[in-house]
Amino acid sequence: MESVKKMRVLSGIQPSGTLHLGNYFGMMSRMVRYQSENDLFCFIANYHAQTTIPTAQTLSENTFNATCDFLALGIDPEISTFWVQSDVPQVTELMWILSSLTSVGSLDRATSYKDKIAQGIKPNAGLYSYPILMAADILLFDAELVPVGKDQKQHLEMTRDIATRFNNSFGQTLIIPEPDIEKETQLIPGVDGKKMSKSYDNTIPIFDSEENIRKRIMTIITDAADINEPKDKDTPLFQLYSLFLDKQDQRKLSARYDGEGLRYGDVKKELFQKVMDHFQPFREKRASLISRPKEVRDILRLGAKKANIIAEEVLDRVKSSSGMNYIK
Ligand code: TRP
Repeated sequence: MESVKKMRVLSGIQPSGTLHLGNYFGMMSRMVRYQSENDLFCFIANYHAQTTIPTAQTLSENTFNATCDFLALGIDPEISTFWVQSDVPQVTELMWILSSLTSVGSLDRATSYKDKIAQGIKPNAGLYSYPILMAADILLFDAELVPVGKDQKQHLEMTRDIATRFNNSFGQTLIIPEPDIEKETQLIPGVDGKKMSKSYDNTIPIFDSEENIRKRIMTIITDAADINEPKDKDTPLFQLYSLFLDKQDQRKLSARYDGEGLRYGDVKKELFQKVMDHFQPFREKRASLISRPKEVRDILRLGAKKANIIAEEVLDRVKSSSGMNYIK
């Protein structure tokens, strides 16, 4: 049988604290699916995280924890290429080369930069050139498809523009990546009904203590419908619970919502149990990784080594086409 070349899929994730249900059912499940069908490149974007000036301790803890989260939830370092961004530092070299092909006007128009400034983050140059580093992340590995959230769409367009400009200036060198934007239909509601997001403080964490997870689930907003009235199903509690049910159990839950005698408090307790049962194996795996940092380090070394091979190849190509190979 003829072997089909797998598509190179790449994505980066900022290490910014605890993973929640929204991450798990959104980005994480997509990654695991990509991993089984494609050539997945996935990294922890710790250089990007530096732009908001965390303390050294926060940054290093978040990086380690994010690594353990991803490994626990199913990123397989044998099948995929999984590394920490700063372990393949060629990305900063490519970023410099791409800087001269990036117009200041396009950086000025970056909405994520403007949003961060509006939130009160100091406008440092790292924050400003964040999209160039992101372009380097993508282009350094010949990525063909880049799955990201809607908020990253503009960054992907900038990446494509930069790569196109490079190719127009220096000849066909870089692969122009396609974006794969997360669909709004996959929206996971938070405890207040808005999209689950760390910035809304409405998340249900996956790896927090049992007690904190229980507390968060108990705060899911519900209406004041009488116990014997049919209940509204277009609500966060129903939607969140449904994520953990197969079709048949979803129908059962739906019938309970339509009938009499349903107490939201009971549904919340059941949901809590579902969450704990579902994540138990992942929680155990994560705890075991956290307690064995040397193993994690070895996994990341292997990942960086695999990533490094492609990075060297592409950087060589970039440098020779752009005039850095000065002895012919
Ligand atoms: N900026 C992305 C985010 O905040 C993270 C990221 C960094 C990324 N480099 C990337 C995503 C490269 C995809 C590809 O979500």
